Amino acid sequence: MSKIIAVTGATGAQGGGLVRAILDDPDAGFTARAITRNPESDAAQKLAARGVEVVRANLDDEESLARAFAGAQGAFCVTNFWEHFSPEREKAQAGNLARAARSAGISHAIWSTLEDVRSYVPVGDNRIPTLTGGYKVPHMDAKGEANALFREAGVPTTYLYTSFYWDNMISFGMGPARDENGTLTITLPLADAKLPSIAAADIGACAYGIFREGERWVGRSVGVAGAHLTGAELASGLAGALGEAVRYSDVTPAAYSAFGFPGADELANMFQFNAEFAAEYCAARDLATSRELNPGLTSYGSWLDQHADRIPIG
Ligand SMILES: NC(=O)c1ccc[n+]([C@@H]2O[C@H](COP(=O)([O-])OP(=O)(O)OC[C@H]3O[C@@H](n4cnc5c(N)ncnc54)[C@H](OP(=O)(O)O)[C@@H]3O)[C@@H](O)[C@H]2O)c1
Repeated sequence: MSKIIAVTGATGAQGGGLVRAILDDPDAGFTARAITRNPESDAAQKLAARGVEVVRANLDDEESLARAFAGAQGAFCVTNFWEHFSPEREKAQAGNLARAARSAGISHAIWSTLEDVRSYVPVGDNRIPTLTGGYKVPHMDAKGEANALFREAGVPTTYLYTSFYWDNMISFGMGPARDENGTLTITLPLADAKLPSIAAADIGACAYGIFREGERWVGRSVGVAGAHLTGAELASGLAGALGEAVRYSDVTPAAYSAFGFPGADELANMFQFNAEFAAEYCAARDLATSRELNPGLTSYGSWLDQHADRIPIG
């Protein structure tokens, strides 16, 4: 009998990648169940048109998640910090996911997580500024803190450490902009550090590899990335794809924070953490392991070949 994988975020980047990986491997014995707040949305309807079971649930409502998880063998659990910018709400949603997975008897959950930066730079250490609520990087700290909620719930869980999406250049305002001389420029406070990065959909495809291997990954942490690239390498790849020079502008975290867009302060802290702890951050996202989990792992070059025409120029 086919094993059902219940997928939160199925209409989004990570969960969508997992649903497509399951659909693309029909003989492997897995079936995707897409969880969404709105089964009538275009994204949900597209999944239904491919034969995916679509179920309504809300991360804010544990009971709805338990119903959506019922009868499933696996659950992919992802929250979307950027919809509300609240680490407290993100932790509450993670708790709902963990308890719902336990009450539904899920055999294998994957929790899409990130490092709690405070375990590297404690709140009293001002190398990285502490933000409101006692966080260094709220969207990372909350996810990392929430790992304990899955452990405490007793759910067999794999802790999946994700990486910076190349897709941020399309949908998160991180693409190139023209400087005062008209030169295309990407601006990141990364100094010369290598940043683990990935095609967002490949996170879901790696999660599929984890579900396929099953037992081996229960109770373990694993990080995934498609490449470890410096700002200069991100820029030179873009230049090749766009057919025009792209400069890497390395600003300080303080200057990046001062750009003042929503979330600029925490993204400045995130990039500072990425840069100052690059050795640990890259080591936690091994490329060979990522490729074992997902043999079709996309390279930066081929992601650019497929997507460069969709990157807006700021
Ligand atoms: N951007 C990056 O570089 C990056 C890197 C690593 C990690 N992340 C993390 O990735 C997470 C977002 O994942 P994503 O990029 O895959 O999401 P996404 O593409 O922005 O889509 C959001 C998904 O979350 C679902 N969702 C949001 N709130 C929900 C709720 N209350 N109940 C049920 N479903 C809900 C949405 O489903 P419906 O709308 O259909 O209900 C949708 O499928 C964030 O927490 C972020 O911190 C991002």
